[in-house]
Amino acid sequence: MKSGGICILTSDFSNVSRIAFEKQIGITLEAKRLHSVYQAETCVHLKNHLYDRCMQTRLPLRLHPRPFLKWAGGKGQLIQQYIPHFPKQFSTYYEPFLGGGAVFFHLLPSRSRLMDINPELVNVYCCVRDHVESLIACLNDHRDRHCADYYYQVRASMHESAVERAARLIYLNKTCFNGLYRENSKGLFNVPIGRYKNPTICDVELLYATSAALRSTYIELNSFEAVLQEANSSQDFVYLDPPYHPISATSKFTAYNRYAFTEADQIRLRDTFVKLAERGVNVMLSNSDCPFVRDLYQDFTIYTIVASRAINSNAEKRGKITEVLVTSY
Ligand SMILES: C[S@@+](CC[C@H](N)C(=O)[O-])C[C@H]1O[C@@H](n2cnc3c(N)ncnc32)[C@H](O)[C@@H]1O
Repeated sequence: MKSGGICILTSDFSNVSRIAFEKQIGITLEAKRLHSVYQAETCVHLKNHLYDRCMQTRLPLRLHPRPFLKWAGGKGQLIQQYIPHFPKQFSTYYEPFLGGGAVFFHLLPSRSRLMDINPELVNVYCCVRDHVESLIACLNDHRDRHCADYYYQVRASMHESAVERAARLIYLNKTCFNGLYRENSKGLFNVPIGRYKNPTICDVELLYATSAALRSTYIELNSFEAVLQEANSSQDFVYLDPPYHPISATSKFTAYNRYAFTEADQIRLRDTFVKLAERGVNVMLSNSDCPFVRDLYQDFTIYTIVASRAINSNAEKRGKITEVLVTSY
């Protein structure tokens, strides 16, 4: 069982009675010593949903919602350092720079509003939430046909339906070089095929688990300022994870796709942070550790986080760096 989330393991679910299942989940929850009521509520919600799903599909179930995409700037490796800094209580969670959603999948809040400016990414989340069966069927098709020629054929193709587009993004994300989603200035995915021997193109259990975790979320295509229309009380928690400010002239954190995040955007984001903080909203932000960022947030609490740079095509350049975590509380 992994820490920091919910994990339910059954070896042969079709033979497990409802009572045994409840008992199993009860034991799991007890063992986890969930630290907040929000997680506990989510567990009940997931438990009911997953029970129905498993009875329908007769699937063995391994539940641990976690990011289903590898995303530039993903926070999976940093969660353990973030845990002491999450607010102890909140009722609605907002994540305006969703990306791979590592913090959302860790917290599993019962009420949340997730946003991103990338329409293909938002479409993937909506399809995982609303059309997981047809998405899995499409991904199985990609898995069966996967080879270098097929990869480049899919990469060059335009797909019509929302589910086909979502499956295309997941397929390319799982098979491309370094798992790095990158678009050129025309918004076209231009990464070559990766060197994976046997990539997991369709992780059925994970897709069901994340679909259940997303079931009651509101997912929106929008820029981060839209959070100001909703978050306004001390019961709200907003986590901001923008594209990082470059730490040197050569670092191109902001150039992964066409949504470049400029210095002016960082200043607008700081202004948004300040407005939310003034309303009493709990705000937390990640960014690179540089004088510009430290200066922007000098009036708030700044923690230093140690990270390894996970996405760099040159393995030798992957090393330890520091980042900042800023809180308004
Ligand atoms: C650093 S990533 C977030 C990573 C995420 N926290 C994770 O764990 O995977 C930044 C995300 O912000 C999105 N983004 C860029 N500009 C934005 C804007 N103005 N408003 C909202 N989202 C934006 C990008 O599409 C990208 O998905």
